[in-house]
Amino acid sequence: MNKELSEFSERVMAKRGVEFITPLDMKVKTRALEKEGRSIIHLEIGEPDFDTPENIKKAGITAIQEGYTHYAPSQGLPELREAAASYISTTREIDVSPDEVVITPGGKDVIFYSMMALLKSGDEVIAQNPGYYPYETDAKLFGAGVVPLPLLEENDFSFDREQFKKLITPKTKLITIISPANPTGNIFSQEDLEVIAEEAIKNDIYVLSDEIYSRIVYEGEFRSIASIPGMKERTIILDGFSKTYAMTGWRLGYSVSNKTLAKIFNKFLVSSNSCVATFTQIAGIEALTGPQDAVEKMNAEYRKRKNLVVKGLNEINGISCRMPKGAFYAFPNIKKFGMGSNEFALYLLNEAGVAVIPGSTFGEMGEGYIRISYATSMDNLEEALNRIKKATEKIS
Ligand SMILES: Cc1ncc(COP(=O)(O)O)c(C=O)c1O
Repeated sequence: MNKELSEFSERVMAKRGVEFITPLDMKVKTRALEKEGRSIIHLEIGEPDFDTPENIKKAGITAIQEGYTHYAPSQGLPELREAAASYISTTREIDVSPDEVVITPGGKDVIFYSMMALLKSGDEVIAQNPGYYPYETDAKLFGAGVVPLPLLEENDFSFDREQFKKLITPKTKLITIISPANPTGNIFSQEDLEVIAEEAIKNDIYVLSDEIYSRIVYEGEFRSIASIPGMKERTIILDGFSKTYAMTGWRLGYSVSNKTLAKIFNKFLVSSNSCVATFTQIAGIEALTGPQDAVEKMNAEYRKRKNLVVKGLNEINGISCRMPKGAFYAFPNIKKFGMGSNEFALYLLNEAGVAVIPGSTFGEMGEGYIRISYATSMDNLEEALNRIKKATEKIS
């Protein structure tokens, strides 16, 4: 590999001096064990175990049968952009026009597009840490420095507001927030958001607000930073269908931003994917405008699972776990075992047959924790808790 390519590859890997185990890497490891006949309980992937609701599947199937199998406008079908604009306008109490919406092949692309549009080498991004790992890898890919905003367990996984203010420099071009959060399950309070908004406005900084879990809330209230006066123009909202509607494989998400950025994102789509599959977009219209009872049912089930998992984890010697307020992850503290989180996750996999993600995958501040996705059945969760208890008794 030539030097430039290898430097590029290092940036993509976001080297931190530890092996960086993503959920997909864990899947490769679990597959190898399953091939040997081992039983593995999968708590590693952040993916709803529910099927896509019937009405949405039907809309997609009918769309294929009716011939919606050709290109769509690159920015997205006008009807879907209208539905998304209307949904965001109502839920965030802001005025969004369809021109400000770009339909993307998954919410993840919005991270990539935002960074590609806003960052150049030497810029800085403030990113919550622990946080969903593409924020770090994508920023590094575009040559930007990533400044971690530590989320502290003692603050219920929120940040220290004074510390946040000190992180801003003339190089700061973007602040990224995820609320409800992956991996901690925290939701930022209105006060937290106001501090971020005040600094963003004062220092002319964009905010990328990842709101993909905004419909999965158990406690408190989800609020968007875009609703704060003066923030709509400088916020990029990332939202999508993967989590709320169990549509991970359909690959459908969207951004809401000012028109200038929307035009740039549209150009990225023209140059890369051309558009999102047309029938997928039609299913998305049904998701946003059709009945929402399936969403409520899924959320009620996540709530039961969350209570079971957090109670069960706290009953295991050496583990302590905060009650998440949203999303479908628990983020227990495993520091008492004196192992790094990679080592602990691999121990659970090999000893107990339980796949989880090491907290360090989500940044330095995740060290000493593991992420458990409870998007799986109560039976699986009960069995996983038993196995974790047995395996940890051997090392405590
Ligand atoms: C915080 C967060 N943002 C964005 C995404 C991307 O979702 P998708 O690309 O499936 O819409 C995920 C998926 O795990 C996530 O956890």
